Amino acid sequence: MAKINSNYDKLSAGYLFPEIARRTKNFLGANPGVEVMRLGIGDTTEPIVPAVIEGLHRGVQNLSSADTYSGYGASEGINPLREGIAALYREQNAEVNADEVFVSDGAKSDSANIQSIFSEENIVAVQDPAYPVYVDSNVIAGRAGVAGDAGYDGLVYMPCSEENDFFPSVPESKVDLIYICSPNNPTGAVATREQLKSFVDYARAHKAVILYDSAYASFITDPALPRSIFEIEGARECSIELNSFSKTAGFTGVRLAWTIVPKECVAEDAAVGKIHALWTRRQNTFFNGASNVVQQGGLAVLSPEGRRQTGEQVAFYLENARIVSEGLRSLGLATYGGGNAPYVWMKTPGELTSWEFFDKILGECHVVGTPGSGFGPSGEGFFRLSAFGHRENIEQAVDSIQQNLKL
Ligand code: MLT
Repeated sequence: MAKINSNYDKLSAGYLFPEIARRTKNFLGANPGVEVMRLGIGDTTEPIVPAVIEGLHRGVQNLSSADTYSGYGASEGINPLREGIAALYREQNAEVNADEVFVSDGAKSDSANIQSIFSEENIVAVQDPAYPVYVDSNVIAGRAGVAGDAGYDGLVYMPCSEENDFFPSVPESKVDLIYICSPNNPTGAVATREQLKSFVDYARAHKAVILYDSAYASFITDPALPRSIFEIEGARECSIELNSFSKTAGFTGVRLAWTIVPKECVAEDAAVGKIHALWTRRQNTFFNGASNVVQQGGLAVLSPEGRRQTGEQVAFYLENARIVSEGLRSLGLATYGGGNAPYVWMKTPGELTSWEFFDKILGECHVVGTPGSGFGPSGEGFFRLSAFGHRENIEQAVDSIQQNLKL
C-alpha cells in the first residue's frame, strides 16, 4: 500500500505567488475591464540584452553541426562557465575554485534541494521574513512540526525588523543550518561585512552550515557591502552560496544558476571534502546538467560586453526601485530596501495586516504587491513591491497609488 509524504499536509497554505495570482484573478473576475499593475512576483520584464542573445544563438548554432553538437554534459556544467563564475568571485577577493561551482537550472530548485544532503535531525534557522522556499523545503523534509501564528514548531525564526535594520543577531540556541539571503528577499536589506562575520564566527564555533542566497548580489551598488559570503574570512569552512542569472540577465524563464560548495566546508560529522562530494553525488543522480544552449547564454553574460549590457539593465531596475520608494515616501509611508535591491519593503499604513493592505491597494489603486506575512510571522504589517517592470507600468502604478490610496 503506497503512502504519501504527509509532511506536505503540514504546509500552511498554497505557495505564496500562485495564491496572489488566484486572488488577483478573482478581483479581475469581479471587476471586468479593470487593468491591474503587477508589482507582486519579482519577475524580470525587459528583453535579454543583445550580447547574451548572441550567446544563446551560438548555443543553438552549435547543435546544427556534427563538429560542435553536444548531448549530455557534466551535471556540474561546462568548464568554461564554471571557470568564468569562479573568476567573478576572485575579482571580489573571494576564493572560489572552478570545481566548487555547480551550474544548475535555478537557484530556487538548488535552495530547495540543498537541505537534502543534511540530516533530518538538523535544526534550521531562517531569517524572518524569508523567501518561502527555505521553510517549505524543510517542512517537506520533516524538519518542522505544525504551523501556528508564530511559524512552524521546530524551526528557529530570526526576526528582521526596523529595530535591527532587518538583519538578525546570531541565534541564542544551537542551530545547524542557517539560511541567509542578502540582498534580502523580501526586505531589500543588505548584510554588512561585520554582520556576516558574526554568522561565520557562530557557524564555525557550532559546526553549523550557512546556506547563503546571493541571487540579488548584482544589485549591490555600495562598494562597502559584500556581494558574496566568501569575502568573509573563514566562510569557506562553513558556507554554501547560491546565485543565479535570473535577475541579473533576465533568465527567469531561460533558467540558469549556480551553487558554490567549497571543499573546506565541514559539518559535525563531515570532514573536508565530504559535503562537496555529497552535493556532487546528489546532482549526478538527480540532474543531467543545465541546457547546453542556455550555458552558452551564461558564458555571454560573463563576457565584458555581456556584463556591461546586463549591468545597464540592473541599473534600470534599480531606478524603478527608486521611483517606487520615492513615490511611497511622498505619501508619508515608511519604506526600506530598494537602494541595493530590486524590492521595496513598506510598512502598511494604519496598522492594517499585510493581506488587508493587499486588498486595499488592489481595490483602490489596481496595484498588485506581495503581503509581507506571506514571508513569515515578522512580515506581518509589511508589504513588498517589486521593481521589475516596464518603466511606464512602474510610473503608472506609483501615480495610481499617489492619486487613489486612501490614507
Ligand atoms: C519573488 O518574487 O520573490 C521571486 O521572484 C521568486 C523567485 O525568484 O522564485
